[in-house]
Amino acid sequence: MKPRSAQIAGWGTYVPERVLTNADLERMVDTSDEWITTRSGIRERRIAGPDESTSTMGIRAAEKALCRAGLKGSDIDLVISASATPDYMFPATGCLIQDAIGAKCGAFDLEAGCSSFVYGLVVGSQMIAAGGYENVLLVGAETLSRFMDYTDRSTCVLFGDGAGAVVLRACDDAYGVQAFELGADGAGCELIILPAGGSARPATEETVRAGDHYVHMAGNQVFKFATMTLGSCAERVASKAGWKLDEIDVFIPHQANLRIIEAAQKRLEMPMDKIFVNVDRYGNTSSASVPLAMVEAIDAGLIRKDQNIVMVAFGVGLTWAGVAMRWGVDV
Ligand code: UT7
Repeated sequence: MKPRSAQIAGWGTYVPERVLTNADLERMVDTSDEWITTRSGIRERRIAGPDESTSTMGIRAAEKALCRAGLKGSDIDLVISASATPDYMFPATGCLIQDAIGAKCGAFDLEAGCSSFVYGLVVGSQMIAAGGYENVLLVGAETLSRFMDYTDRSTCVLFGDGAGAVVLRACDDAYGVQAFELGADGAGCELIILPAGGSARPATEETVRAGDHYVHMAGNQVFKFATMTLGSCAERVASKAGWKLDEIDVFIPHQANLRIIEAAQKRLEMPMDKIFVNVDRYGNTSSASVPLAMVEAIDAGLIRKDQNIVMVAFGVGLTWAGVAMRWGVDV
């Protein structure tokens, strides 16, 4: 078989209508627009409506991605749902998405915290490169608002909801994924954790009273890990792809905090106009952040055929993941 790769052939996003601004949060917790903007770069985030969830938002994004790729659900060979906030512990959100789009294929959930979508890009593209599949649907969707304690100012101002989806399709190996890195350091597992509701600590009245069904984060320690990881992972995947840093045309970083992105920008000595940022409008949407940024970069005319794109995510686990991709389709 001729060597082959996988490229992004379709893309779509969905964000809930409701906007929660920093001014709204000022009325809810002891915080200020000034603190949130200077410490994180976030101005507003989206919050899912009562009838929305990770699967419903993921389905909306997936339908757009299928349409852009010119495919029907029945053309998809595998569905991967990448999320840290699935609808249920089980069944897999991937199965809910598979059913809704009319796919007749395997489906599963991939959970690598905020790195889940980029992990999914690697898993899906490698299954295509190995010859197993032609078209893989990868959905990165999160409903983080359901796991936020809106009395805890150290977390609730940072996160938002949303979804992005891509269709990965087989292509000539000159295009698509050229290099990747998957990383994890489980020693940092408690730095961002939802402590109760799993098999280690099932939900009880006591865990609910203690707020252990909400996200707990040691923000400062995660910040140090993130600033070290984002730029260095981008360097390593570019080097594995055989690119010099100035040959990266567009860098799509995980949108957790503008200061983390700026630290990477300095390390990479990359002009800011090559780095796509939308953390100001969506906050940290975990697995949805890279696809939400990538699709907006396409819509802004930043991503074009024959360009070298690097995407890097990091977070819960701790995990990180990077992909170097040569863009192969007309936009
Ligand atoms: O998706 C990947 C996972 N997550 C991340 O990447 C997040 C990484 N971490 C961060 O982005 C930053 O650490 C934060 C934005 C979470 C916090 O910024 P920081 O500069 O590291 O602040 P800090 O945690 O050191 O807190 C500084 C102060 C504290 O007050 P004292 O102890 O100095 O008096 C906090 O209590 O800011 C206080 N603070 C707030 N004040 C107003 C914390 N949250 C708030 C708030 N409003 N919302």
